[in-house]
Amino acid sequence: MSKLLYVVGSPRGGESRSAVIADRYLAALRDRLPDLEVDVLDLWHEALPEFDGDKAAAKMTVIGGGNLAGRVRTAWEDITAVTSRFTAADHYLFTVPMWNGGIPYRLKLYIDLLMQPGILFGFNPQDGYTGLLKGKSAAAVYTSGVYQPGMPPAFGADFHASYMDYWLRAIGIEQIETLRYQPTLRSTEPEAVLSAALSAADAAAQRTALLLP
Ligand SMILES: Cc1cc2nc3c(=O)[nH]c(=O)nc-3n(C[C@H](O)[C@H](O)[C@H](O)COP(=O)(O)O)c2cc1C
Repeated sequence: MSKLLYVVGSPRGGESRSAVIADRYLAALRDRLPDLEVDVLDLWHEALPEFDGDKAAAKMTVIGGGNLAGRVRTAWEDITAVTSRFTAADHYLFTVPMWNGGIPYRLKLYIDLLMQPGILFGFNPQDGYTGLLKGKSAAAVYTSGVYQPGMPPAFGADFHASYMDYWLRAIGIEQIETLRYQPTLRSTEPEAVLSAALSAADAAAQRTALLLP
């Protein structure tokens, strides 16, 4: 039985456009994989710890091969509680609204908590970074009110899909479904944009179902 972790990146609940596409993808996936186990992690309602100085010290201690002690050890334990839930999944679904060109800050906090040496990545000075996740896959839904790929710079720039794609590959995830529902606000044909995004979600779910154990 496969386990999916749905990471909710929009705080807009029932108003969220990315959630509409994610829900469709999830429904289509569940049709094909009725035993799919789904863990929903709503970044706006989960009590994520701050990534503060102790967390940074814990990360740097582990990278340097040092011993964790006292507050820094506690910080590392807080981090690994977050990473364990993440690494337990086989497949990830992210909703990623564009916020000021990039990703919402709660999602960045989550990534900062997750991105730990020996868990999600390895490093050595000769080869650089390597992703440590094996056999996992992801789907990400990207929304933006105004931006859409191919528009002139006055309509914005994509640091959300590009950043997520970089990060997913950095942790070892190569199988990535990119679902775009863009633009959600500035469209002269809003129904066509939505309908294309929903169809893409169905097709992506079909491909994902073939991948999952
Ligand atoms: C804080 C904030 C920043 C935003 N920044 C951008 C932006 O840089 N470019 C853009 O095209 N839309 C931007 N938007 C619009 C959202 O990306 C758009 O409403 C999208 O549908 C949000 O996804 P959601 O409906 O799942 O929350 C922003 C919205 C908010 C609330």
